[in-house]
Amino acid sequence: MKAKAVKMADGVYWVGVIHWHSRTFHGYGIPGTTYNAYLVFGEEKTVLIDNVYKGMFEQFDARVKDAFDQEGKEFKIDVFVQNHSEMDHSTFLRQTIEEYNPEAEIYASANCIKFLDAQYHNFGDLEINAVATGDELDIGGRTLKFISAPMLHWPDSMFTLLAEEGILFSNDAFGQHVAHSKRFDEDYGTEYLLREAQKYYANLVTLGSPMLRMKLDELTNTGLINDIKMIAPCHGQIWKNPAPIVEKYSEWGNGVCKDKITVIYDTMHHSTEKLAYQIAEGIMSEGVEVAMYFMQEDGPDDVITDILDSKAIALGAPTMMNKPFPRIGNMMYWLDCVNFKGTTSEKNALIFSSKGWGGGAVAKLQNDLEAAGFTVTDTLDVLFVPDEDVLAEAFEKGAELARSIKE
Ligand code: FEO
Repeated sequence: MKAKAVKMADGVYWVGVIHWHSRTFHGYGIPGTTYNAYLVFGEEKTVLIDNVYKGMFEQFDARVKDAFDQEGKEFKIDVFVQNHSEMDHSTFLRQTIEEYNPEAEIYASANCIKFLDAQYHNFGDLEINAVATGDELDIGGRTLKFISAPMLHWPDSMFTLLAEEGILFSNDAFGQHVAHSKRFDEDYGTEYLLREAQKYYANLVTLGSPMLRMKLDELTNTGLINDIKMIAPCHGQIWKNPAPIVEKYSEWGNGVCKDKITVIYDTMHHSTEKLAYQIAEGIMSEGVEVAMYFMQEDGPDDVITDILDSKAIALGAPTMMNKPFPRIGNMMYWLDCVNFKGTTSEKNALIFSSKGWGGGAVAKLQNDLEAAGFTVTDTLDVLFVPDEDVLAEAFEKGAELARSIKE
């Protein structure tokens, strides 16, 4: 197999793989992704940072070899740096160590060393150097600085900064699940990439928001943030201009939200749908942005993405057998998992439902939303099909929710 490495700076190459046809990751929909790995040539040592996922070795191996061809150097990896142990970045680590250089130095966080052996059960015999914030490695005219980054995205995660060039190899943090033929942010447009990064953050990083805030504070207080000229994550495009994504991470991690309400509903015979539409009209009448989701057609991953920067939600489901229509349940589990409380944002919620007789959906949804960190400020429980009076009430409740979030 042949595959070209992409030069990022003098002696620095992207040697990752493109997984064009991957359509799910961690259970959410993606349009493909990349598993990024990087080669750094020092005067004395050549370093491979991170690895790739199952089924991808040939593409990865070809790109690594191509980087050596481009540099005109004899193939030899001296150092392996593993920023994180999750399988999408480590599947072939043991194989590459054995095939490329069994005598190479290996560096990872202490948790990463433990996690590698717990996942693959064949790392126990390797001597891996545990590193953390403050540790550095001189590779000849170049310095790698290690920065612990727990919960971004696992307890073992770390960043590696190539100090002289200011390239931050950030592993999962700052990533996006996209699959494109070109490698840099400038090739596709910042707004598009920030939206993909928002989906990635909302679904994978939200829970780690307290750790993100601490990490951004630490990078700012030590001045390292000013040294970062490029961010090279392990998924998606490389940020040649890191300022927009760092600013967005700061906003998302600190619960900064827009005047926006995400409306989510499911329906059996269109009654709850009518309520959803009227609530949306009421919200819009106050000039507040609406993101609308119908759970028969839409994925919870997209819902979560919009909730991240929404100040409130309106959630509707008909009652079926004394409970919420069950198709809403998958989304509720996701909401509970990602837990927006970690971002410090305060999110209000309006719950609405159509019932046949006794009801039950509203009480269950209220309980679940409050457990997931939302403040339920209003409810609307309607008997069968809403008439014009009820639709007017739904409109007004949407407008009231909108007024409650406006600054
Ligand atoms: Fe992309 Fe946590 O792995």
